[in-house]
Amino acid sequence: MALKFLVIGRRGQLARAMQERAVALGHSVHSVARPDLDLLSEASVDAAISAADCDVVVNAAAYTAVDQAEREPDLAFAINATGAGYVARAANRRNAPVIHISTDYVFDGVGSAPRLETDEVGPLNVYGHSKLAGEHEVRAATDAHAILRTSWVFSPYGGNFLATMLRLAASRNELSIVADQVGAPTHALDLADAVIHIASQIVQGPRHDFGVFHATGSGYVSWADFASAIFRESAAIGGPCARVIPITSEEYPTPARRPLNSRLSNERLLESYGIALPHWQDALKRCMARLAPEITSKP
Ligand SMILES: NC(=O)c1ccc[n+]([C@@H]2O[C@H](COP(=O)([O-])OP(=O)(O)OC[C@H]3O[C@@H](n4cnc5c(N)ncnc54)[C@H](OP(=O)(O)O)[C@@H]3O)[C@@H](O)[C@H]2O)c1
Repeated sequence: MALKFLVIGRRGQLARAMQERAVALGHSVHSVARPDLDLLSEASVDAAISAADCDVVVNAAAYTAVDQAEREPDLAFAINATGAGYVARAANRRNAPVIHISTDYVFDGVGSAPRLETDEVGPLNVYGHSKLAGEHEVRAATDAHAILRTSWVFSPYGGNFLATMLRLAASRNELSIVADQVGAPTHALDLADAVIHIASQIVQGPRHDFGVFHATGSGYVSWADFASAIFRESAAIGGPCARVIPITSEEYPTPARRPLNSRLSNERLLESYGIALPHWQDALKRCMARLAPEITSKP
């Protein structure tokens, strides 16, 4: 059955991936974004969600500037917590389930074990606190929710680590990249596929588990090794590459602290919905193949 998706956000990585994948799989997508829908305005959220003809609401919009959030905590909370609540309440009023996206940054990153959904949270930065508050808002607003915690999102749409690496390598031979933060790069198109499969099962059955799920690419890697893998793929198609110098987080201070261990266990997603996202290396190859014409056409 073709589903009608209402996606909050239009220009972000996941919103664009949702548009691409849902349409490719025969579903319809209506995306709403600023200025028509602003997560700072409950009235605009209510108006957009009550007017839309949809089976499921996907909130792909968020305040995602992790370092800037340290200087703008009120704005980060207004968008990621209060705004997320507006979306979930409006979806509940029209009996539509909501799929909400959260983050590995709800954890403190201690140890090296992959975190379970039931593990204790403890964000290290304002962004993580605001996203955790968003989870609480969604849970309080509606039972019909799937909160997907993802990590290290990349895509062909720019505005991510991969794009930054390629841009920097165009003008520098060496890049110092942190090697002590380990996590799972997640292709936005793979995350979109997971969202679509979850939505299909929630709306049509047979499964409709609600709650929090970890949903990241398979496999774990440090930022430094991810950068090296990006440059290997880029070099293979004649794109920019740089030598990676591994450094510690202490050597690269940022306004927001990041968890060292961003590993999430995706077991619950597999058990509940039968979904495992592809390995990040496979995802990286697909993303680079998409970017190849753009990369190789640059002087
Ligand atoms: N990127 C990552 O590495 C990462 C990691 C873990 C979790 N996540 C989560 O994954 C989800 C998707 O992330 P993403 O990478 O696709 O984000 P993104 O590319 O940064 O896009 C975020 C979108 O949110 C929209 N937005 C911001 N403030 C808004 C407001 N007040 N009202 C309406 N829209 C607003 C922006 O709209 P404009 O275009 O108008 O600015 C933008 O299009 C988010 O929930 C994020 O927290 C991301």
